[in-house]
Amino acid sequence: TRTQDEEDLPHATKRTMADHLRKYETIFTLTPQRMRMITEAFKEALELGLQKPGQIVPMIPTFVFGWPTGQEKGEYLALDLGGTNLRVCLVSVQGDGKFEIAQSKYRLTEEQKQEDGQKLFDFCAECLKTFIDQNLTESDSPLHLKPGEKLPLGFTFSYPCAQDRIDHGVLIRWTKGFGAPNMEGHDVAEIFRKSLEKYDVPVVLSALINDTTGTLIASHYVNPKTKIAVIFGTGCNAAYMEHVSNIEKIKSLNIDSSTDMAINCEWGAFDSFEHEHLPRTKYDITVDEDSNKPKEQAFEKLISGRYLGEILRLVLCELIDEAVLFLGQNTYKIEVPYAFDTAFLSLMESDPTDELLMIIGIFSHFFALETTLAERQFFRALAKLIGRRAARLSACGIAAIVDKMGYLETEEPCLVGADGSLYNKYPGFADRIHEGLVDIFGEKGRRIVTHHAEDGSGVGSAIIAAMTKARRDAGLY
Ligand code: GLC
Repeated sequence: TRTQDEEDLPHATKRTMADHLRKYETIFTLTPQRMRMITEAFKEALELGLQKPGQIVPMIPTFVFGWPTGQEKGEYLALDLGGTNLRVCLVSVQGDGKFEIAQSKYRLTEEQKQEDGQKLFDFCAECLKTFIDQNLTESDSPLHLKPGEKLPLGFTFSYPCAQDRIDHGVLIRWTKGFGAPNMEGHDVAEIFRKSLEKYDVPVVLSALINDTTGTLIASHYVNPKTKIAVIFGTGCNAAYMEHVSNIEKIKSLNIDSSTDMAINCEWGAFDSFEHEHLPRTKYDITVDEDSNKPKEQAFEKLISGRYLGEILRLVLCELIDEAVLFLGQNTYKIEVPYAFDTAFLSLMESDPTDELLMIIGIFSHFFALETTLAERQFFRALAKLIGRRAARLSACGIAAIVDKMGYLETEEPCLVGADGSLYNKYPGFADRIHEGLVDIFGEKGRRIVTHHAEDGSGVGSAIIAAMTKARRDAGLY
């Protein structure tokens, strides 16, 4: 910490920090009235997405028909290509809401996210092959794969893909900072099958799913009261079960209109391009313009873990430029884009010490910067503003689905399965969502309850592979 005793700082310095905080409070705070307006606009965007193809919020039909029975069984592989990691899972689906899972995780590098798509998928196929060799071909392994035998694979590919069957999907656009060329507009299942062949991986790609769809199905498998699934991680998105009769844009497919189908909303795209509804600050605009996809994923950029740290960092950089913070110190480390991880916001908010020792640690260890207590209190308050805004905006998205589907029209609780690093690790994120829902709906908003979801990308993917198999066996695909 600084050698100068903080108590000796001129009074004006402290006042300045408090003044600055007030300014940020004004721009990052969402009133209940504003939240209700956003919810209304959101609801309209959801409706529009169901009516016509190619809308801003694409409302993607997933070809996952209805809820699992809970009696699905069998051994399935799941491959999860999320925003940060690649995961291979072997899931034993055992019926009665039970399952077992064995898994391996691999970190994706920034280069891999940008390099040729086939190369990225080759890497996925290689990891899958290694996992199978290590876990399924030994004669003493619990599940011994016979030569020539193939296991069904659920591929969780958590990016917007247009589907007209469950086992294929055309990538609409990359999100979450991915940018591998020659993938957008192409069938990713087809590209992945080439990689599987190349490495001779003994699997059949039977379902291509989004993490939200997997989360919806896995959470419902364990708790049938679940109606919506949301992910708050590197990206942010939701899925729910829709009546086929409400999905105007697939009328021509003549699907039995009494059935239900899961919809992957891809709500991260809400208010993209037009920017009419969301309260974007100048920091949000900078994040957007400097991203690899300007104007896209407008909602996600205010909420998800990929961006919150960057928003806070941009505020700090502004105060450095205004000579308010870190005077006389070398600030080059914190001036690097994306240098401030969203995990630091969680840590800052959860620092239990009076002196805010964890915040001292973050700034000195990662950025070689000394801080005063007043500054640390300010950083913590700023993290709170940005984290709270993200949670309250998330509440607007949930409210839009709940309202559209009339889930509060009965006395039943409406359960929302939620997953992702922000939801699981950010202190108070869930409470702030719940507060936001009460601000939007009043007391009845308390009936909407989020809970930590089952692992959608692994278990959900496997259950969907099992549901797909059951439908195929019944001649329904
Ligand atoms: C991004 C993706 C979406 C995914 C979400 C959460 O928004 O576009 O498909 O569900 O991140 O991982």
